Amino acid sequence: MVIRQYREGDYPHIRQLWEDTGIYRADRGDTPAVIRRCNDQGGAFLVMEEQPGGRIVGTSWMTYDGRRLHLHHFAIRPSHQGKGLGKILALESLKHARKKSCPVKLEVHDENKVAIHLYESLGFVAFENYHVYMILEP
Ligand SMILES: CC(C)(COP(=O)(O)OP(=O)(O)OC[C@H]1O[C@@H](n2cnc3c(N)ncnc32)[C@H](O)[C@@H]1OP(=O)(O)O)[C@@H](O)C(=O)NCCC(=O)NCCS
Repeated sequence: MVIRQYREGDYPHIRQLWEDTGIYRADRGDTPAVIRRCNDQGGAFLVMEEQPGGRIVGTSWMTYDGRRLHLHHFAIRPSHQGKGLGKILALESLKHARKKSCPVKLEVHDENKVAIHLYESLGFVAFENYHVYMILEP
């Protein structure tokens, strides 16, 4: 496996991976233009592929708001799950955060036990009694 930075031509493959893992929603604004803008603002988008130029099997998108990195669109292709790849990609993502010297925040559904197990094993700590709010069209 190889972990590298996102490239423009990746998008159709990545979007398919997001659809296959259930994390794609059109209203989230997951477009190539948004990815480019976030990376320009200090974020990083890591792609895991089977070999250089091979099939994409994982994504980790970190956006930066000037204070923190937000980790999202974290996914491993279903056929490759449960083999330790998520952990490898997450550790690589944390390396990027260490280089930037900033905290990492993420959101995860409370039914997503595998993801929660993974994040907690890496040291993430959940806020208790905390709700996440959003307004799509302010
Ligand atoms: C969450 C996800 C990225 C994890 O990736 P993965 O490659 O399957 O995870 P790993 O194989 O690295 O396993 C990570 C940990 O979870 C455990 N785990 C993996 N699959 C599991 C399963 N089906 N049941 C229980 N534990 C499991 C592993 O044992 C490992 O724990 P350990 O380090 O204590 O042994 C992957 O399941 C995925 O893409 N899910 C769909 C998208 C998603 O929900 N993303 C997260 C959004 S917040």
